[in-house]
Amino acid sequence: MPEEKPAKKSRRRLLMALAVAALAAVGALGFVLHEEARSQGTVTVKTTELTDLGKQGEALFNATCLECHGENGSGTMQGPPLVHIIYEPRHHSDKAFYMAVTFGVRQHHWTYGDMPPQPHISPDDATKIIRFIRELQVANGIS
Ligand code: HEC
Repeated sequence: MPEEKPAKKSRRRLLMALAVAALAAVGALGFVLHEEARSQGTVTVKTTELTDLGKQGEALFNATCLECHGENGSGTMQGPPLVHIIYEPRHHSDKAFYMAVTFGVRQHHWTYGDMPPQPHISPDDATKIIRFIRELQVANGIS
């Protein structure tokens, strides 16, 4: 019957349209989730009274690491927050900090890309920077 054909056709078109809409919705959700994953990057950091060593670490941190890790290690779009539960001493010991400074870091926890080595930071400087980050971590309930 000639009348049935157009009806079938339009039903098929409707199904196609629904399928396309569903795919678009999945794509949009993926985009939103991806954006959310990246914006996890920054946190609010409570500041604290630093020790002398912590203050020296802060100055070194500000000159070298702040660009990517943000003010007080709160993160930026270039690097993760270091005052973050991921970087508590049990997960990332001081050794992980010395290694990061000397060898850089391959992207693995986040989607910022790799961290380049920081050859101008001596082990002594790194010790001070670690002290600064650890003092902030403690002040923010991460220890
Ligand atoms: C050019 C940007 C950049 C600079 C500058 C930078 N970092 Fe990073 N850093 C990153 C990125 C990006 C990561 C995250 C890599 C990942 O896990 O995906 C990272 C990760 C780290 C980690 C985690 C290491 C691990 O084992 O997972 C430590 C610790 C660290 N940085 C310390 C520092 C210190 C200290 C400085 C300054 C001396 C510094 N970073 C400077 C970008 C940077």
